[in-house]
Amino acid sequence: MVMACVTTVVMAQGVVKPAIPRDAALEAKIEKTLAKMTLDEKVGQMLELNLDIMGKYDASRKWQLNETMLDTLISKWKVGSILNAPGTRAATVQQWQEWIGLIQEKSMKYIGIPDIYGLDHNHGVTYTQGGTLFPQPINIGASFNAELARTGAEITAYESRAADCPWVYNPVVDLSRDPRWPRMWESFGEDAIVNAKMVEAEIKGYQGDDPNHIDRFHVGTSTKHYFGYGAPWSGKDRTPAYLSPQMIREKYFEPFKAAALAGTLTMMVNSGSVNGVPLHASYEYLTKWLKEDLQWDGMLVTDWADINSLFSREHVAKDKKDAIRIAINAGIDMSMDPYSVDFCVLLKELVNEGKVPMSRIDDAVRRILRVKYRLNLFDQPNTGGKGYEKFGCEAFAAKSLQAAEESEVLLKNDGILPLAKGKKILLTGPNANQMRCLHGGWSYTWQGSNAADLTEQYNTIYEALCNKYGKDNIILEQGVTYNERGQYFQENVPQIDKAVAAAANADVIIAAIGENSYTETPGNLTDLWLSENQRNLVKELAKTGKPIILVLNEGRPRLIADIEPLAKAVVDILIPGNYGGDALANLLSGDANFSAKLPYTYPREINSLNTYDYKVSEEVGTMSGAYNYDAKVSLQWPFGYGMSYTTFEYANLKVNKASFTADDILTVSVDVKNTGNRAGKEAVLLYSSDLVASIVPDNKRLRDFTKIELQPGEQKTVTFQLPAKNLAFVNADGLWTLEEGDFNLKIGRLTQKVQCTQTKTWANHASFYRRN
Ligand code: BGC
Repeated sequence: MVMACVTTVVMAQGVVKPAIPRDAALEAKIEKTLAKMTLDEKVGQMLELNLDIMGKYDASRKWQLNETMLDTLISKWKVGSILNAPGTRAATVQQWQEWIGLIQEKSMKYIGIPDIYGLDHNHGVTYTQGGTLFPQPINIGASFNAELARTGAEITAYESRAADCPWVYNPVVDLSRDPRWPRMWESFGEDAIVNAKMVEAEIKGYQGDDPNHIDRFHVGTSTKHYFGYGAPWSGKDRTPAYLSPQMIREKYFEPFKAAALAGTLTMMVNSGSVNGVPLHASYEYLTKWLKEDLQWDGMLVTDWADINSLFSREHVAKDKKDAIRIAINAGIDMSMDPYSVDFCVLLKELVNEGKVPMSRIDDAVRRILRVKYRLNLFDQPNTGGKGYEKFGCEAFAAKSLQAAEESEVLLKNDGILPLAKGKKILLTGPNANQMRCLHGGWSYTWQGSNAADLTEQYNTIYEALCNKYGKDNIILEQGVTYNERGQYFQENVPQIDKAVAAAANADVIIAAIGENSYTETPGNLTDLWLSENQRNLVKELAKTGKPIILVLNEGRPRLIADIEPLAKAVVDILIPGNYGGDALANLLSGDANFSAKLPYTYPREINSLNTYDYKVSEEVGTMSGAYNYDAKVSLQWPFGYGMSYTTFEYANLKVNKASFTADDILTVSVDVKNTGNRAGKEAVLLYSSDLVASIVPDNKRLRDFTKIELQPGEQKTVTFQLPAKNLAFVNADGLWTLEEGDFNLKIGRLTQKVQCTQTKTWANHASFYRRN
């Protein structure tokens, strides 16, 4: 209920406390360095180049760094940052030590300021051979275990530093809300709070506990892509998004706010536009929202050549110089302009012409220096690679295996699982016997392709099942295979008959289907249905009458409504990393228990691509009368759905207050009992629903979650502290408001009604975000 007479509008012009308390000594060093810098040095620091341009392949196809070229780029152009792996292919620790070592030597010699080297070490050390790769972030979302996120990040930081790399372009919190988009597996799923809690955990893991003084085992983060990248209207990568003010503030901005307040050292900006405004050109989004409202003192880096995109793609600038003017004035601090140094020339001209104020340049350089000082790169530009004996060790591998086991989702089981040993298994499908689809994109290479030589020591699904069930018990006949020389979606001429014939000798069929690896534009999609060949394979095999277990190995939920009914069990392993096959074998056999839940809504129909937090009016019951306004949200499986080999019972949902106001913190508790006969982990999810609001409320919203482990018969009480303020929404005026009226709090199937007794509307966003 909304009652204007009791509305309190908070007029405070609140300022959010900086996420990282400023370190006076460090700030003094920044000022001292800045004071000595020439304009050439300043604009040079603001440029980031691609390593590829500084070398070439020799006769034996080995990439060699050209020292003379490096010398020029650093001595003449004072370049502040370099990124990427040559040919986007993983190098060895020794190569990184050599290349980054040389870059740092020259940077200190010619500029006296260290370089900050950046790599897409996204789910482990993508570009460093022999390191540890974890399941992709979508799996970490499915684990609902923030501790796993933190541990994985800690290990990636350690292994990155072993390779001398101090900066990773991660975490990714784009929100996976549109299954058409090719990068939805790169974030933690569709929900803002899951992404916010995971990003906080990862930032701690990557950066350690003191972001002002990051040690040699931790790295700086670049939370990306700020914001709305994952919502292209066309579904195609890097195309425009159109988002309501509510969706922006309540959802897309939320994890970036969390990252800023958790002290992410840097953020990377969304290549595209939101409501017609390219993010790289938006003073409002870059400077006002992040740097002013949140008092975030980190550095903003562009995505790949994206200042250029302001004129070449977005058409909001007339040429490169105009684009630089717009972007730097909007708040960009560093330009990832991979192939050219003309950024330096043009920016210097703009400053001399008075079109970019010197104060903006100083602010940008201050932020860049702050990152370099926080990473202690001035005192220790290189790690030297000593003291990193744990690189690629078994303990790290065990963590990756645990993450895979906790992130493969059991979606259907009519009792066939766990699959007893001693049965003959036909393993079929294009994902059955190759590592590429298990580790996915951003693994050894940009697209995750052509990396088979670097993954021989890991087990494909086939190899893992052989290890578990005995080689003699596994018949491998794939029926459909990917064309490894083609685009990710291309398949070879199918051989379904062979698979059908092989089924005659099997007791059970495991069909490993899904997608090959991809990322960014090469991963664009024209049809969300799983490939016709693969669905035909399952349909033909079903005719044999042998029970089928579907194993989905895919970066986004491909439609399978016509084959799901043909399966006795369905497991969605998402993109589980190098130990994903072993994890699957452990789970299928019952040696490990399932505990993952879907981090996104799995759609059933092409015209019903929902998220769980849809507006209530998207689902309308049948009306009586001449017209039937019946509208149904039709899905294959809901967000948060996932089964286990044991059962959990929820009871005694309690809230400590029946009524509350904005400053209250609600204590919500529930008893969870393992009522089955084996140990299991359970993710406990707390939702709220605003029953009546001044704009159409969401069906429900996740507010918090945790994961617990219970032995058979064991019971635990789970308690959440829920600040009432978190139940606020953005109203029609674009302001945060908590309205008087009833809310339902829900855990499992239990619901408790609570009442807000006083409306509060925050006067501005800064005052809403202010922390005490
Ligand atoms: C991607 C970013 C990545 C950058 C550097 C871009 O194409 O969008 O996610 O960090 O390249 O490799």
